[in-house]
Amino acid sequence: YRCEAVEMERTLAMIKPDGLSGKYTEAIKEVILDSGFHIVKETEVQLDAERASVFYAEHSQRSFFDSLVKYITSGPVLAMVLERPDAVAQWRTLIGPTDAKKAKTSHPNSIRAMCGLDSEKNCVHGSDSPESADREISFFFGEAESVTVEHDEL
Ligand code: PPS
Repeated sequence: YRCEAVEMERTLAMIKPDGLSGKYTEAIKEVILDSGFHIVKETEVQLDAERASVFYAEHSQRSFFDSLVKYITSGPVLAMVLERPDAVAQWRTLIGPTDAKKAKTSHPNSIRAMCGLDSEKNCVHGSDSPESADREISFFFGEAESVTVEHDEL
């Protein structure tokens, strides 16, 4: 018989300072693993304002940019590479809407409903597209493994 190769995808997940300081890491990882993701690698880092501004460059003209940079540099973050089929979209669904306060009523089972507070302190980040995922994974983990691995059909 033929075994179709399942196409794996990677996304960048980040537990933000309020998630880490609130000790939500284990609860979030449990949701990640229960949802069929593999945690490929992880790194805990303290971003400075310069690095944070690079990470959030696409939002540099937004009114909340300075506040966002200040917040994301207020303590360490945990960056993780997550893998499963359709990882980018699946992780975005799992974390819920940007505004964690609204998430508590509209998406009560989402991660942001569990541990976020508002649009800034929303506990977790997820890449918004496969292209963003590539960029954000390189940002935290370097370019070395941005090689596509071909899985042969059996
Ligand atoms: S929006 O409102 O739809 O544009 O929000 P979004 O594009 O999802 O937000 C992008 C990131 O900006 C953060 N954000 C904020 N930070 C501080 N203050 C305010 N008001 C605010 N609104 C949005 C939001 O948490 C997103 O961060 P990431 O890390 O990408 O999830």
